[in-house]
Amino acid sequence: MDKKRGSFSNKMGFVLAAAGSAVGLGNLWRFPYLAAKYGGGIFLLVYLILAVTLGFTLMITEIAIGRKTGLSAVGAFKALDKRFKFVGYLACVVPFVITPYYCVIGGWVIKYFVTFLTGDVAAAAGDEYFNGFISQTASPVFWFALYVIITAVVVIFGVEKGIEKASRIMMPLLVVLIVGVSVFCITRPGAMEGVKYYLLPDFSKFSATTVLAAMGQLFYSMSLAMGIMITYGSYMKKDCNLEKSVRQIEIFDTAIAFLAGLMIIPSVFVFSGGDEAALGKGPSLMFVTLPKVFEDMTLGGVIGTVFFLLVLFAALTSSISLLETNVSIIRDKLGWSRKKATITVTIYVLVLGAIVSLGFGPLSFIKIIGLGLLDFFDFLSNSVLMPIVAILTCICIGHFIGSKVVSDEVELNGAFKFKKFYNIMLKWIAPICLILILVFAVSEAMGWITV
Ligand code: PHE
Repeated sequence: MDKKRGSFSNKMGFVLAAAGSAVGLGNLWRFPYLAAKYGGGIFLLVYLILAVTLGFTLMITEIAIGRKTGLSAVGAFKALDKRFKFVGYLACVVPFVITPYYCVIGGWVIKYFVTFLTGDVAAAAGDEYFNGFISQTASPVFWFALYVIITAVVVIFGVEKGIEKASRIMMPLLVVLIVGVSVFCITRPGAMEGVKYYLLPDFSKFSATTVLAAMGQLFYSMSLAMGIMITYGSYMKKDCNLEKSVRQIEIFDTAIAFLAGLMIIPSVFVFSGGDEAALGKGPSLMFVTLPKVFEDMTLGGVIGTVFFLLVLFAALTSSISLLETNVSIIRDKLGWSRKKATITVTIYVLVLGAIVSLGFGPLSFIKIIGLGLLDFFDFLSNSVLMPIVAILTCICIGHFIGSKVVSDEVELNGAFKFKKFYNIMLKWIAPICLILILVFAVSEAMGWITV
């Protein structure tokens, strides 16, 4: 970001920009596959509870300290208390872990867009199409590299504004299309089973892992616990209502994720059988399921093409915000020019991302704690690093710096409606729950305990 700190021109500007960063593959690709895998309704319920408690607490904290200090993560923590600069540094690691593999998925989206554009719908709907594609060597790396280059060009030339403008048209269109496709899906024969699975919680499927998965997803989807919302906050005007903005971003982000689930999960029941294997597909779920839906639809080829184009846009606004964050971290630290920093980060993303992409093909023998490369990086950022950053944020602000920095900042715009609730959440409930869940889930992943 440029040296001079601009701010968003109008009140909606902040919410839209933050929502542009928040709404992306996390909502459209990641949320549905996790919900499918972790028991449907129970995952949805846990996610919603976490969104209004933990999500609210963290987002308001991050945006408030950003706006108060006018600085990004490292500077903000340092300005509040020198001892906690390291929390800022730790937060900065997260976007470096996420960006490479995020762009791998971005590459898959371009590939599907092009496949639909060239009329290959029937091929894309085939059972083995997705695996056949990602297990190749050159093709997925090519689409990934193209995706990275598009993102980098936007960041180098600083034309985010153009993308943001375009996404103001694209986002509402995406919402309309998702609603349309969901209606189509849930009216197919057999879909009701899927709707029930998605909406009715089955408590026997509840475990610590469900909570950890939902929590990691919450951070990821709302761009929390990685310093991004602190930076966004630093650009927010003082007269913009902080509490209300947080609520708007949360509602918007959650609504899109919810709808994406409503579009994909019933489809799994209609087109792929609702058995465990079909539901537990993981990262491939959206790519395997949606082409079957479009193939079944009149004008599905056209609708699918438009759909993947809109997903691509939503993904780009997020990866641009990720890359931009990496670039500004490097620039703040090393004082490099925008161009030099962007090119260096892009090379890093290209190298690490290519390795992740090959993890589905020639490098598929590499397993770390039993996970393939993409799943490993995803686990590392969402289930380990982000919870740790979140815990430290709560403890530092709640117990050392004092939640007053946040509430004073919120109260610049009138009463802080949920102040009491916020204080208890920040000081006690959030950190204690976070620590418990992190310990449980990591022990489980490492095989130290079996639940
Ligand atoms: N929140 C984005 C999504 O849901 C991902 C993201 C994370 C974007 C961090 C920017 C920064 O896809």
